[in-house]
Amino acid sequence: ALLDNSPRPLAGRRAIVTSGPTHEPIDPVRYIANRSSGKQGHAIAGALARLGAEVTLVSGPVTIADPAGVTVIRVESAANMLEAVTAALPADIAVFVAAVADWRVATSAANKIKKKEGEGPAPLQLMENPDILKTIGHHADRPHLVVGFAAETADVVSNAQAKLARKGADFIVANDVSPATGIMGGDRNRVRIVSKDGVEDWPDLSKGEVADRLAARIAEAF
Ligand code: CTP
Ligand code: CA
Repeated sequence: ALLDNSPRPLAGRRAIVTSGPTHEPIDPVRYIANRSSGKQGHAIAGALARLGAEVTLVSGPVTIADPAGVTVIRVESAANMLEAVTAALPADIAVFVAAVADWRVATSAANKIKKKEGEGPAPLQLMENPDILKTIGHHADRPHLVVGFAAETADVVSNAQAKLARKGADFIVANDVSPATGIMGGDRNRVRIVSKDGVEDWPDLSKGEVADRLAARIAEAF
């Protein structure tokens, strides 16, 4: 429970958080998606709200509960997510945790694509989705603090540093999501905070603890 005397350093600040996967339709019954439970993004939205921020959580399809004290906007595709994030501007803080599908099907079928036995599937034509973090990181109405994630399976720090520069972020929260780590879908996370000032290694923490530490770190930036 929130105590009356708990510090609310983000009171009066507006935050946008993306979370979960996006679903990119192939036809009315099929889609392309990344693996994402939404646990880390939802926990960050809740943690920012507990520090007093007015939080809009833009979430792709997830099965977990909405965090308390947050306005939740549900979306399906990356295009829908970008539209919802842009509509939520202006904001002081934006944290992009969603596992956005990098590609969508160029023309999704209006009707279910039928299997033709023995013929094999028709190839899917894919096109690149908009990069939501990069768009907001370079936006005329850019939030004061822009935070991205980098889920990597190799070269974690160098990939995160490249994303920091390319996307116009202040911090990249980098993690190793190789299957052996068990992070995907689990309740724990081990992250590094990559910024222009260097790399900070955080210990193995619950996703809730990562969220609280990140929210506190964000509050220090004001
Ligand atoms: N991101 C985004 N929109 C996209 C793709 C990624 O907002 N279309 C955000 C993610 O939410 C995350 C960060 O960008 O905060 C990094 O995502 P990631 O998938 O690691 O980066 P990519 O640039 O897509 O590179 P790659 O998948 O090749 O590693
Ligand atoms: Ca990607």
